[in-house]
Amino acid sequence: MTDDRLVTAARVDEDAQYEAGLRPRRLDEYIGQDRIRENLQVAIAAAKQRNEPLDHVLLHGPPGLGKTTLAYVIGNEMGVPVRATSGPAIEKPGDLVGIVTNLAANEVLFIDEIHRMSPAVEEILYPALEDYEVDIVIGQGPSARTVKMRLERFTLIGATTRTGLLTSPLRSRFGITHRLEFYTPQDLEEIVRRSAKILNVPIDDAAAVEIARRARGTPRIVNRLLRRVRDYAQVRAAGTITLAVAHAGLKLLQVDENGFDEVDRKLLRTIIDKFGGGPVGLNTIAAAISEEKDAIEDIYEPFLIQAGFLDRTPRGRVATSLAYGYFGLPVPAEQRRDSRLW
Ligand code: ADE
Repeated sequence: MTDDRLVTAARVDEDAQYEAGLRPRRLDEYIGQDRIRENLQVAIAAAKQRNEPLDHVLLHGPPGLGKTTLAYVIGNEMGVPVRATSGPAIEKPGDLVGIVTNLAANEVLFIDEIHRMSPAVEEILYPALEDYEVDIVIGQGPSARTVKMRLERFTLIGATTRTGLLTSPLRSRFGITHRLEFYTPQDLEEIVRRSAKILNVPIDDAAAVEIARRARGTPRIVNRLLRRVRDYAQVRAAGTITLAVAHAGLKLLQVDENGFDEVDRKLLRTIIDKFGGGPVGLNTIAAAISEEKDAIEDIYEPFLIQAGFLDRTPRGRVATSLAYGYFGLPVPAEQRRDSRLW
């Protein structure tokens, strides 16, 4: 194994570095996801009392909701280091063998984008997770033999955008599985206030509400908007984030009232204008707006569906009456009738 297989959080996640200072380190600093927090509190306390590693944890959900953050919080709560890597970074089975054989007792291995591991690498993981051992092949050709190697008892934390992307043998080896949900505006507001305090920027209550409302239920986005609005307050105003400053800053960023950006608008508008409001297949949409299919499915769609602007039906994606209303367009009669059928 080369050491660069073990990547830092900053490399696993592009936004991580610039967010690092804002991330909560302990469960009691973590805002939102109350059910997950409580479940983890119990599981961690129990594991610590028994002096055992925490059971393997699978975290899934759209990007930016705190999967990586939670992995580090779990490490801190367990009092152990977190070794972080990602599915695509583990190229060969030998890379993973190198990583797991170097783990000390009770340590956490975090694998981001765990669904992107190759099948050969995944094979190594099964006995490592279940029996804390790996099979190592020594030599080549007819004289090759396998040797079992014992591992320390460790915790794997896997993160993925959708559990459906995981093979079922892998999924079944996690004792703790949690789906991260979009955050409520109240939780995001609290995150804005906490982050503003850390960044040492004064913010009015109404401005915190406004930034939270436009963050698509996502802490990573709320923190990004806060930083940009802070820039605006510093350069174009007196340094305080007032409601007027927040409005002006967000307008400059082209983030609208619903938190939609250019891609969201293009996606909805394309379904409405080019495909009569749908249903239209994901591949067709991706081609029409020149975006990656995975980005649409993982980043844009979950929020648009949750916010009620898009429907996923067996025949394809459909723009809802909310989407028509958003663009000031009348809802076609056909669309109204169809949406009752779904
Ligand atoms: N910063 C980013 N996510 C957060 C969370 N869930 N709680 C507190 N601060 C955060």
